[in-house]
Amino acid sequence: MDVVSGSASGLLGARLAVALDSKVVPCEIRRFPDGEAYVRVAEDLAGREVAVVQTTWPDPHFVEALLLRDAVLAMRPRRAVLVVPYFAYARQDKRFKPGEALSSVALGKVLAEGWDEFVTVDVHSPEILKQVSPAARNISALSEVAQYLRGKGVDLVVSPDEGSIDRVRPVAEAVGVPFDHLVKNRIDSERVEIAPKSLHAKGKRVAIVDDIVSTGGTIAAAASALKAAGASSVLAACTHGLYAGGALKRLHAALDDLVSTDTVESATARISAAPAVAAAL
Ligand code: R5P
Repeated sequence: MDVVSGSASGLLGARLAVALDSKVVPCEIRRFPDGEAYVRVAEDLAGREVAVVQTTWPDPHFVEALLLRDAVLAMRPRRAVLVVPYFAYARQDKRFKPGEALSSVALGKVLAEGWDEFVTVDVHSPEILKQVSPAARNISALSEVAQYLRGKGVDLVVSPDEGSIDRVRPVAEAVGVPFDHLVKNRIDSERVEIAPKSLHAKGKRVAIVDDIVSTGGTIAAAASALKAAGASSVLAACTHGLYAGGALKRLHAALDDLVSTDTVESATARISAAPAVAAAL
């Protein structure tokens, strides 16, 4: 299966091609002076199997994914899969207030159309994919995260909130250490508070695991609660490191280590999701 990488996912696309023992199809992707995208797939994909890999964050990368679909499907490949390593807008998984847009489902439907399969990685709420398309499915890169944590000598894995327990508990099991969770209250889009709770963190090397780090508010508050509980070190690992605004600076001050996967390219992306994606394809 050949790989077409959008400009948000060049690194993961190249690693995926290696993992699949295939190649990256040459493409020309550039921006016009006004910011609009130009996309050209420079090889005929007729009758071939192809995976297009493109994170849809920030917004211009979403448009690029739609243009890649048009370019690829027009060539009539035998099988065409869209892999969206980080599917943006998926956190809005309900209409919390009347009149809100259900962005996860609305944008998922637009993305999924036309592909034989639409694959996301550690999407915030996998249940929303049922409303998106029968061709949509989610895979996880958290076994790769667990493998990283095993090499770090972690003693305890912690989820920052109750909503992530089912996602994070298997990481603790894979690392072979106890699991605990915090109780998070979101104050606003940047600030969270962690409710008081007894934590068996004294003298332990603790890893906080989350799906997404955006402003870093969640991880910073969780790290401070764990340090207050006597943790000897606190590292944070996530699948998708977005690091909005000054998040990286804030987190480097709060943590002993910060790591993410290459679903989003950043300075912390030291874990690759490629083996998980390759196995799923
Ligand atoms: C929320 O439920 C997610 O799992 C993350 O905890 C959240 O998106 C992190 O956002 P931030 O870094 O802005 O606190």
